[in-house]
Amino acid sequence: MNTVLVGLQWGDEGKGKIIDYLCRDADIIVRFQGGNNAGHTVITNQKKFVFHLIPSGILHKNKICVIGQGVVVDPEVLLDEIEILKKAGISVTSKNLKISNFCHIIMPYHRIIDSLREQKRVQKIGTTKRGIGPCYKDRVSRCGIRMGDFINKDSFAFKLKDNLREKNPIFKDAYGQKGFKFNSVYNKYKKLAQKVKPFVCDITDYFYKKQDKNFLFEGAQGTFLDIDAGTYPFVTSSSVVASNALLGSGLPFINLKKRIGVAKAYTTRVGEGPFPTELSGKILDYLQEEGGEFGATTGRPRRCGWLDLVLLKRAIKINNINTLIITKLDVLGNLDKIKVCLKYKKNKKIVKNFPYSLENIKPIYKEFKGWEKDISKIKSFTKLPKKAKDYLNFMEKYLEVSINFISVGKDREEILKKRRRES
Ligand code: IMP
Repeated sequence: MNTVLVGLQWGDEGKGKIIDYLCRDADIIVRFQGGNNAGHTVITNQKKFVFHLIPSGILHKNKICVIGQGVVVDPEVLLDEIEILKKAGISVTSKNLKISNFCHIIMPYHRIIDSLREQKRVQKIGTTKRGIGPCYKDRVSRCGIRMGDFINKDSFAFKLKDNLREKNPIFKDAYGQKGFKFNSVYNKYKKLAQKVKPFVCDITDYFYKKQDKNFLFEGAQGTFLDIDAGTYPFVTSSSVVASNALLGSGLPFINLKKRIGVAKAYTTRVGEGPFPTELSGKILDYLQEEGGEFGATTGRPRRCGWLDLVLLKRAIKINNINTLIITKLDVLGNLDKIKVCLKYKKNKKIVKNFPYSLENIKPIYKEFKGWEKDISKIKSFTKLPKKAKDYLNFMEKYLEVSINFISVGKDREEILKKRRRES
């Protein structure tokens, strides 16, 4: 069955591990948005892998991984990632990695302007400084360099010159920087382009005849970082929601039956922006430490908070989710009390519908007792402590979506399947 998997919070929901698990039943695994702002971690028995661009399905034999047209590609990062995989003995060839000729390329000026804008602006976003926003900006301004241009020397030279003609004065006048010399950028990047070239193809044409295969679409970031549905302006610059899977991949003929949402058993956020259930003090320290809540891409400490069911319910609607996966349940193990946000309050009034803005929102909580036990070695849902099951069952009832899997530890196999009638 064709499946799309997306994050239901602010990213870092543990999607990498779940994708790695679901890959077993998929033939083709597709990234459809974002770039190397993402960091999907998979821990196998030999090694820890952090994927920024290549779908984590590459770890499995006989799978095809696709970087779709909605992804922005930093060629240096892509080639590094390929090198790391090859060194670990994983085969990456033009047979198991296909990159759309429509992807936009992240150039050095995108990365630099990303940092400079953050320094200059009053309203900072807290970006990953990977050049994501500036690259998407060029895409909609119709001056971006696409993969198809990048691998063609003449077309690349023409587009790069045209971009530098416009961008260098901006670097100089607005930011007091030197700007970029055509020759040094061109000479370095044309070599990278030749290395990327074998993987590039027309995704739509290539897969049109493979519609009988099982496709798995791997979302990056999370619903509230979506450019439209998220907590704008503190969002990323792409459409991260499930409905973009087909457009962003270039595979509009695929029928998506299963729409999986992944949420952590608590909430985290990196970068700026409102976060109603945000914690501080000892519980924050505990969650950061126990949950390893430090960015896989930037190493930044993640902000942590209690689970917010108002947010999750909204994300389920936006993505039309029909299956839920909860990760990091084990992290809550040592707490004697756990809180869950059920409603919001603004200016002393209860907020019933999802508000336009999460600024100045106060959470209203229900409290649960913790289970105070290590659950990472438990192998079935029925063996979980009753208090942990109460927590999950409450979530399922409130959200009106079945929980299918629960991740209870870092390792690949520390995952429980929950059958529909188990409680
Ligand atoms: P950008 O995508 O680098 O422009 O960053 C915009 C916002 O999205 C910032 O708050 C980042 O911290 C956040 N962000 C981007 N990618 C991820 C991710 O993979 N996980 C969590 N947050 C992310």
